[in-house]
Amino acid sequence: MSLKGNSIVAQSGGPTAVINASARGVIEEAFKHSQIEGVYAAYDGILGVLNDEIFDMSKEDPEVIKGLSSTPASALGSCRHKVKTDEDVQKILEVFKKHNIRYFFYIGGNDSQDTADKVKKLAEKEGYEMRVMGVPKTIDNDLFGTDHCPGYGSVIKYLAAITMESGRDTEALWTHDTVSVIEAMGRNTGWIAAGTSLAKRDDEDAPNIILFPEVPFEIDKFANKVKETLKNYKRCVIVVSEGTKHTDGTYIAEQKGDFAKDSFGHKQLGGAGFYIKNLVEKEVGEKARFVIPSIAQRNGIHFASKTDSDEAYLVGQAAVQKAVEGMSGFMTAIKRLSDDPYKIEIDTVELSKVANGESLLPRDWITEEGFFVTKKYLDYARPLIQGEVPINIKDGLPVFSRFKKHFI
Ligand code: F6P
Repeated sequence: MSLKGNSIVAQSGGPTAVINASARGVIEEAFKHSQIEGVYAAYDGILGVLNDEIFDMSKEDPEVIKGLSSTPASALGSCRHKVKTDEDVQKILEVFKKHNIRYFFYIGGNDSQDTADKVKKLAEKEGYEMRVMGVPKTIDNDLFGTDHCPGYGSVIKYLAAITMESGRDTEALWTHDTVSVIEAMGRNTGWIAAGTSLAKRDDEDAPNIILFPEVPFEIDKFANKVKETLKNYKRCVIVVSEGTKHTDGTYIAEQKGDFAKDSFGHKQLGGAGFYIKNLVEKEVGEKARFVIPSIAQRNGIHFASKTDSDEAYLVGQAAVQKAVEGMSGFMTAIKRLSDDPYKIEIDTVELSKVANGESLLPRDWITEEGFFVTKKYLDYARPLIQGEVPINIKDGLPVFSRFKKHFI
């Protein structure tokens, strides 16, 4: 049962405000177990393994490791690199064998869990004993098998706050800037845009309209809704998901040209806010402006959720504990036990199920009309944004951790 050897942790894909809390959970827990000899990290995700760029966490200052919880984005480095061929998987395993890596912890979304699964299967086939555990991460909240994903609570807390603040701007200057459009990330799901609904305490609060990829976008219906909102409140704040689609299934906005797709074949989104602004000006005849928080939204550590950060740590820590106990081929996950009081426990789900699954915002969590969420969503989301992550401030601004990176 006891497997001796080195461990490696890697981060992958789009960063989040709390992905480093998961790395901290993995690293601090790994140091506690004598069968884990070296505690290593891959530089820039799986690319660091393929390029044999691996650094030693024992050479890093424990205070820097502790500071990961108040540092946004991926402190180990990240990548969007598809492990396409069997040769790539073979190469990964060769590097693991070379450094006697027996524990692999991969923090990422479904593409990363797919890579982790492939490595686990090849190691098994070749009789190389190792334990592979996935750790969930994505602001998109679309991973199968977990109630929600670390990173999600923080992105919606930050975006809801931006919506409140921009909403007050529109309320103040409605005679000039009558309509505001905020673009939310989230790819093909409306989970992130839905989170801005938490900003609305009174009827007249922003947002007035939310556009979801789950609801086909009809221009006339939308224009009428904007007109109705203007009649009632004289102003209108709209949140649009970047992945909103026309009724024929095409995106309302996607990038063109050389960088239109990443290595996974995902279309580069962005621009939905600009599209909606132009549409409002043309179809409704009111001035509109747009806000695209883009990557700022997924790194907002100064207003991140403590609940989210604590859970991010736990899923990283539990991955190590379970691997040491003998588990392999699973991703740690969050199981909700109750909404109020909010209670969770750490669960596990097979990597292959995560790799092939996707969790969409349920249609009955969106109103029938399609422009806002229902109470079911609000009950689900409210606990996820509670508390604020304490951050170190120097000269009025946050202090972030950075590793020295002593390569092995
Ligand atoms: O997957 C996380 C995410 O933030 C998505 O919401 C978004 O579509 C994407 O990453 C943006 O990153 P990129 O521009 O690399 O696709």
